[in-house]
Amino acid sequence: MTKIQFAAPCLMGLEGLCADELKRLEIENVRAENGRVLFEGGFNALARANLCSRYAERIQILMGEFPVYSFEDLFQGVNRLPWEEFIGEKDAFPVKGHCVSSKLSSVPDCQKIIKKSAAKRLGSKSGVSWLEETGSLHQIQFLIIKDKCSILLDTSGAGLHKRGYRANSAAAPIKETLAAAMADLSRVRHFSTVIDPFCGSGTILIESALKALNIAPGLRRGFAAEKWGSVPSSVWAVERERAMDSINKDAEFQAFGCDIDPEAVALTLENAKKAGVENRIHAEVRDIRDFSTQPERAAVICNPPYGERLLDMQQARELYKIMGNKFVQKDGWSYSIISPDDSFEDTFGRPADKRRKLYNGMIKCQLYMYFRRNK
Ligand SMILES: C[S@@+](CC[C@H](N)C(=O)[O-])C[C@H]1O[C@@H](n2cnc3c(N)ncnc32)[C@H](O)[C@@H]1O
Repeated sequence: MTKIQFAAPCLMGLEGLCADELKRLEIENVRAENGRVLFEGGFNALARANLCSRYAERIQILMGEFPVYSFEDLFQGVNRLPWEEFIGEKDAFPVKGHCVSSKLSSVPDCQKIIKKSAAKRLGSKSGVSWLEETGSLHQIQFLIIKDKCSILLDTSGAGLHKRGYRANSAAAPIKETLAAAMADLSRVRHFSTVIDPFCGSGTILIESALKALNIAPGLRRGFAAEKWGSVPSSVWAVERERAMDSINKDAEFQAFGCDIDPEAVALTLENAKKAGVENRIHAEVRDIRDFSTQPERAAVICNPPYGERLLDMQQARELYKIMGNKFVQKDGWSYSIISPDDSFEDTFGRPADKRRKLYNGMIKCQLYMYFRRNK
């Protein structure tokens, strides 16, 4: 089989991190684009990227890209794609997607055309006139932007941010992929101590632990393509073993979480257990007003209440002011705080040493990073 082209959509702002990570995973021909990373390889790359990527939202096979100005263009373009290499004659292949700023603007009509065209190709290749679609799920996704059509086949199933440890979450949890990026940008390493004084469901602490111990985030979940007849099960076994062998069990990493809400603290401990990192994560009820910089060194990483989803803006800013006083400049200590509030630094009381634009869902935020002792 020739090399498969893949696309890994990710949160805006994480393309570089996502691409660097895929390169570290020895995946070939990795290129970052706006909102996604492209790469190529065989079924091993498919399984490895699903299991190991901390920042990709899903892994898709990029079946093809072509210009479309009419339904006929769409039908012919889809009909040329090698569906039979991935979809068996009994498999299900529903279609969903989006049209943006394009001549073809009706999503339901495009869905119908793509379905008809892929079905025609699959039927003629297998010599079957009726495709029963009772087998494994092969979700076809399409994206038509400015008359350019991308046809994709999803291999992940549930979004990759669903690691399998957070069935329950506190109010306003941060997305796992974003929390992982915050850990990376805050330079979490195997020897780090991480503190989240607003730990909620524990996402930042758990993602930091997974990163520090080099635990692949997908080890505790399944993927759509694991049920495909076209992907040998040995590939998944090899890649799971490779990921297990890479875990750094000797890491010194420890993490401490606090939250004013006892239920959030219980949830952090419960989720840490589900993620298999409970021996690295400690949590207790504490108000930020009682925060102290006790250990010798630590990386504080947090998403305090926003003033939109939790608390009102004034209350949120009061907390920023308290944080500014408590997060003192000290050797070995760094602080990374994500906030959508443009006046964060004024309220906190110091300009950040570094800022990075990130998106928490649709909310544009900055990660304010403080790591220098003396200005
Ligand atoms: C945006 S949520 C954090 C979500 C968390 N990162 C997660 O993924 O679930 C903010 C958290 O701050 C906590 N909180 C609010 N006021 C606080 C205070 N004064 N001290 C400590 N925690 C506080 C809330 O209980 C909430 O869990």
